[in-house]
Amino acid sequence: MISLKKISSRNVWDILKLRVSEEQKSFVAGNEISIIEAYTTITANGFAFPFGIYENETPVGFLMIGYDVDDDWEDPPQIAKGNYNLWRLMIDQACQNKGYGKEALSLALDFIRTFPCGEAEYCWLSYEPENKAARELYRSFGFTETGEKDGNELIAVLKL
Ligand SMILES: CC(C)(COP(=O)(O)OP(=O)(O)OC[C@H]1O[C@@H](n2cnc3c(N)ncnc32)[C@H](O)[C@@H]1OP(=O)(O)O)[C@@H](O)C(=O)NCCC(=O)NCCS
Repeated sequence: MISLKKISSRNVWDILKLRVSEEQKSFVAGNEISIIEAYTTITANGFAFPFGIYENETPVGFLMIGYDVDDDWEDPPQIAKGNYNLWRLMIDQACQNKGYGKEALSLALDFIRTFPCGEAEYCWLSYEPENKAARELYRSFGFTETGEKDGNELIAVLKL
């Protein structure tokens, strides 16, 4: 069974060992960068919820949820203000194509719908245009592209 566990001093080393394939490296930041970004966001009065993705007791991936914009974020997309976002999602290369990404996304949306930072209308996310797997996964959950971009990445939103 898939579950999300908060990143803590106990599990962080296991999560840092998880890797995507060489070809996927341009699609997602390394987990060490994401966890540092969680820290810098929180210290700039923002919100970040980093989680390990587990199949029973085995770490298989990482995801991070954000909310709103922090004091240091220059030029955030319009949708970021007052909404949640699926900031990162990765499944270790050895564990992909087993349905874990789908289950983890469903759990992430369950968590967001508890509205831990307050009510919001949308969950948004972004992906590289050539990231077919991510695009298809998000589309299957009802995310639709807005035409807006975050840097090079296409933005898609889901009404909560
Ligand atoms: C995207 C990612 C998280 C998907 O995780 P996964 O566990 O391999 O995916 P699942 O097995 O749960 O498959 C879920 C859905 O994703 C889509 N998908 C997965 N691999 C795909 C591929 N190679 N081509 C097209 N669609 C694909 C399908 O819609 C699939 O549903 P289906 O099996 O019912 O058709 C994983 O490939 C990954 O970590 N990629 C590298 C990092 C990344 O790109 N993260 C997203 C950044 S925006």
